[in-house]
Order: sequence, then C-alpha cells, then structure tokens
Amino acid sequence: MDEKRILLVEDDSSQSAMLALELKRRGYRVDAEKSAPAAVARVEKEIFDAVITDLRLGAGDGLQVIAAVKASQPETGVLVITGHGSIDTAVAAMKAGAFDYLTKPVEPEELVLSLRKSIEHRDLVGEVRRLRAEVREGRGFSKIVSTSGAMRKVLDLITKVAGTDATVLITGESGTGKELVARAIHENSARRDGSFVALNCGALPEGLLESELFGHVKGSFTGADRNKRGLFEEASGGTLFLDEISETTPGLQVKLLRALQEGEIRRVGDNHPVKVSARVVAATNRDLKKHVADGKFRDDLYYRLKVFPIEIPPLRERVEDVMPLAEAFLKKARVRAGSPAAKFSPAAAKALEAYSWPGNVRELEHAVERAMIMATGPLVGADDLPPEIAAAPAAKPKAARKPAKARR
Ligand SMILES: Nc1ncnc2c1ncn2[C@@H]1O[C@H](COP(=O)(O)OP(=O)(O)OP(=O)(O)O)[C@@H](O)[C@H]1O
Ligand SMILES: [Mg+2]
Repeated sequence: MDEKRILLVEDDSSQSAMLALELKRRGYRVDAEKSAPAAVARVEKEIFDAVITDLRLGAGDGLQVIAAVKASQPETGVLVITGHGSIDTAVAAMKAGAFDYLTKPVEPEELVLSLRKSIEHRDLVGEVRRLRAEVREGRGFSKIVSTSGAMRKVLDLITKVAGTDATVLITGESGTGKELVARAIHENSARRDGSFVALNCGALPEGLLESELFGHVKGSFTGADRNKRGLFEEASGGTLFLDEISETTPGLQVKLLRALQEGEIRRVGDNHPVKVSARVVAATNRDLKKHVADGKFRDDLYYRLKVFPIEIPPLRERVEDVMPLAEAFLKKARVRAGSPAAKFSPAAAKALEAYSWPGNVRELEHAVERAMIMATGPLVGADDLPPEIAAAPAAKPKAARKPAKARR
C-alpha cells in the first residue's frame, strides 16, 4: 500500500510533535501547520488523504480549514480535535462537513482508527461514483434509438425536463419505452446520483401499495413487525417512477396528491408527517383523460401529474425507427449469444417495416432475439422471423389495421 499523506493542523507545538511522531511510526506521511491561513494555503495547492485539525487555533479556527478542504478536495475527510467539553463546537464542525471528531487528550490508537475509516469511506464513495457512471453509460440516454422525428422530439423533451424538478407524465402503448424514457430523465437530471426507484402501481392491492409507497410503523397492521421506510423516502433526492398510475384507487390518489403538493407523506399507522423530496415521473398506457371523465381518476391529481406530458408514439407510427432498433437489438443479442447472424436480408427488413407491432419496441426486441437464434448463417432471413411478422408484406395497408390493444 502506498504512503498516505496527512495534514496535521495544531497550534500547540508539543501536541503537534507528539501526534506527528505517532502517525509517522504507523507509516503515515505527515505535514504539519500551525495556523488556519497556512493550512488553507496548503490544501489549495496539495491533495491529502486526510486532514486532522484542532478546532481552536492561534490564528483562525478549524472551521476555516474544513471549509477550505470541502471546497478544494471534497472527498478528503477532515478529523477534528476539540478541547474537553466543547460539544457545541464539535457539532458545528460535523455540520460543516467534518468526518469525525476526537476530544482531547487524543489517544493515538483512536486517531489512527478514525483516520483509517475516513480514508476507507473516501475510497468507497469514489468507487460508487465510478460504478454508477459505468452503469449509466450502459443504459443511459445514448441507448435510446431515435431516428424518427417523433422520437427526436421525445429526446428533446427529456433534455428539457431533466433540468427541472417538474412532475412528468409519460404516456404510450405497452412496450413503447416509457420506463426507458423515465430512466433517461433521471440519468440526465441533477438527481442522477440519487436512486431511481420504480414501482408498478397495478401490481399491488391498495393497502400494500400504500405501505410500499409511504412506509409503515411497527404494529400498524397484521404482519407489520418492524418500521419500514416507503419508496417515497427511498427515492428522496432521486426519482420515483410510478408505472401504471391509472391503476391506483381514489383513496391512494388523494394521498399521492398530498405527497406531491406538500412534499410530505405519512407512514401507515403514524401521524407525523415526513418530508420527502423525490421527483415523481408517472407513466400509463391508458387514456387517463378518459379515466378522469369516467370518474375513475381524480382530476386534481391528473392535472398535477401532467405538468409536463411526454407522449411516446406507437412504433407503427414511426417506421423509420424499426430498422435502427432491429439492428441495435441484433447487435446486442449476437454479442451475448456469440451468434454469426449480423444483418437482416432485404426481405426480412421489408417484413419488419411492414408489420404493425402491437407490442411495440418490446415485441420487436423479442422477435429479433428469436430470429437470431433461428438464423443459421450471417444473414437473418424473413423465414427466421415469427410467422405473423414474416407474412406482414402481404397484409393490408396500415390505415386499415385495427389499433393495437394497449395492455400487456
Ligand atoms: N427508443 C428505444 N431505443 C432502444 N430501446 C428501446 C426503445 N424503446 C424501447 N426500448 C426497449 O424496449 C423494451 C420495452 O421498453 P419499456 O420497458 O421502457 O416499455 P414500457 O413502455 O415501459 O412498456 P410497458 O407499458 O409494457 O411497461 C425495453 O427493453 C427497452 O429498453
Ligand atoms: Mg413499463
């Protein structure tokens, strides 16, 4: 392991010498400063693995050192040393961003333990950031195929809304890419380092959905044997994706509205409001306006959700996207399967473009995966496609086709 660099800021010479000696004996490289201005000048020019500072210094104080470290090298942990009984100042130091504090007289063992933790913490934070960036590249914005004008418009809307905290309502038939768009909004927003939490509102009965969203306290219902945080809290600072929002009951809709309007929720069985700051993106493959007209969906919640609507057109209305999507899926699938199939024959391409895709992009993805398995050579032929798709060029003109059912 390489030598760790520590900056020690302490105005008492004998204390400073003692600590520096203890740290050097344990393999740390120590630089010492006696005043806040001198320490600030150092951290503006050099990077340390950790900074140890006394709070009360002859010139200036430890809070100035913390501020300078946070500004110039925010990953670096600061350990604060406080005089006996000055808890208030220790609290102020922690608030200012110190990693830990130790009270005088400082035990070298304790100091080293805290130092190790601080460096470990910094390394972990860096690793999480790198991993998140990798994941982001894998499924982020760049992965949305958008050759058609309609999809380029969708991309444009994603970029615009990502910079705000507005609630978004994504509509589109099943398999059009609603979840993909929701993720892209999150990944392109300032909340990208927070969590993206997805919930299918159609998959749970009302009671469970409520406790899933808002959490519950122990004993609030049979089986609630511990306190549980809800997804609104888990997504605080991030994005909460509410899929199939049309499937919520009126009772739950009231609670959702309150959460959106007041930024507050109540856990099931608890009267204390909890502040939440999740950004909500909702999606539906239903005609929500019709649900409102039919009295199945609250109009106030509807208007609140559709502050920023994004409509994804069905695939049959953007034929320009079919081949770019098919090629992207083929490339992805063949890498995974090690298949020789690399291209579609002209007949296969014709069939793919003529088909009506009631299951939209998801259906296309599955069809391509299947065709790749069927193909024996480098070319995917029309015969390798599922029969209903292979027969598509012979089918009726598009306008005569029945609109697709919007349910999975
Ligand atoms: N424009 C696109 N570019 C690349 N891949 C896409 C695109 N649109 C959809 N997909 C892919 O198609 C599949 C279906 O997309 P997604 O799950 O986002 O659809 P959905 O609208 O949420 O469907 P449902 O209503 O059934 O939940 C996913 O694998 C997604 O990655
Ligand atoms: Mg979905």
